[in-house]
Amino acid sequence: MVAAVRVHKHGGPEVLTYEDVQVPAPGPGQARVKNHACGLNYIDTYFRSGLYPAAGGLPFVSGNEGAGEVVAVGPGVTDVKVGDRVGYTSALGSYAAERIMPADRLVKLPDNISYQQAAGMMLKGMTVEYLLHRTFKVQKGMNVLIHAAAGGIGLIACQWANYLGANVIGTVSSQSKADLAKANGCHHAIVGYEDFPAKVKEITDGKLCEVVYDGVGKATFPASLDCIKPLGLFASFGNASGSIEAFNINILQTKGSLFCTRPTLNTYAAKREDLLSIANNLFSVVGSGKVKIPVNQTYALKDVRKAHEDLEARKTTGSTVLVP
Ligand SMILES: NC(=O)c1ccc[n+]([C@@H]2O[C@H](COP(=O)([O-])OP(=O)(O)OC[C@H]3O[C@@H](n4cnc5c(N)ncnc54)[C@H](OP(=O)(O)O)[C@@H]3O)[C@@H](O)[C@H]2O)c1
Repeated sequence: MVAAVRVHKHGGPEVLTYEDVQVPAPGPGQARVKNHACGLNYIDTYFRSGLYPAAGGLPFVSGNEGAGEVVAVGPGVTDVKVGDRVGYTSALGSYAAERIMPADRLVKLPDNISYQQAAGMMLKGMTVEYLLHRTFKVQKGMNVLIHAAAGGIGLIACQWANYLGANVIGTVSSQSKADLAKANGCHHAIVGYEDFPAKVKEITDGKLCEVVYDGVGKATFPASLDCIKPLGLFASFGNASGSIEAFNINILQTKGSLFCTRPTLNTYAAKREDLLSIANNLFSVVGSGKVKIPVNQTYALKDVRKAHEDLEARKTTGSTVLVP
């Protein structure tokens, strides 16, 4: 038996239950991973609340991101071996001391990437990689708006977009978060979500942005569309404030023939070659120091309820790691 956090019924942080679970021996194509660190992500709250259904139904072990050591492999596994240091993302069940993983979803960690860093970036940093390089190619001189700029995704995205030469504009809810975002590559931090389109217009001399990256959702829609120049892209990648409700698609025409996408890392990293390519690009920018992974909160796994409360109360910044 190993310690894990399970959800038996949907609800608030109180439904997260720290208990012992059985972990079977790995079957064909599987590996058993001893987690050294688990990542905390906003998506974990969606599975906990029931906004996103868990594929296997209830109960399920929570968490989607982790890093650790391979301690056993099943028949036919060639991608990893016992003793390998690995990271993984987008695989429900990471809030546990040990877990079973499909071996072909594991990524070997370079020596210069720690377990803490990996747990703080496999989901968030890989998401930033595809958002800035694949959903839209951010280039030098472009105006880019990143909502929740001091969050887990936000701090990584600000640094990376800055490194690519973009003019980085961010929104945050407080001055201290604005200061943090600025220290992480955000050129212009807008405090508050009330009238951000007017501020974006002012900052860009009326030119507006080539792309808006929006993980906030309901609270920033449709205002985000007023920040985008004609033929620009609205990338809605999350719902921290709630899901965007149904809207008339004609609004994209009236705002300047805009493009709109609702991407997920699951699609971009579905093939193993893409999983490895996205991860290697991330390891490269982090390994070279161009992008840092700020792990600003660490909790013991047993304190997971507090971690979820703090995340949803907007008390966390950057990445958060749970230690089994
Ligand atoms: N599609 C994908 O592939 C993908 C992958 C990973 C994550 N995501 C999404 O990316 C977003 C960020 O994820 P994260 O894990 O890095 O979280 P996070 O940004 O660290 O936390 C969410 C932030 O959203 C802001 N926010 C605005 N309105 C809020 C509200 N009503 N309630 C709570 N927070 C609010 C807060 O920052 P302020 O206080 O500054 O407003 C808060 O810190 C989430 O929407 C997540 O679902 C998507």
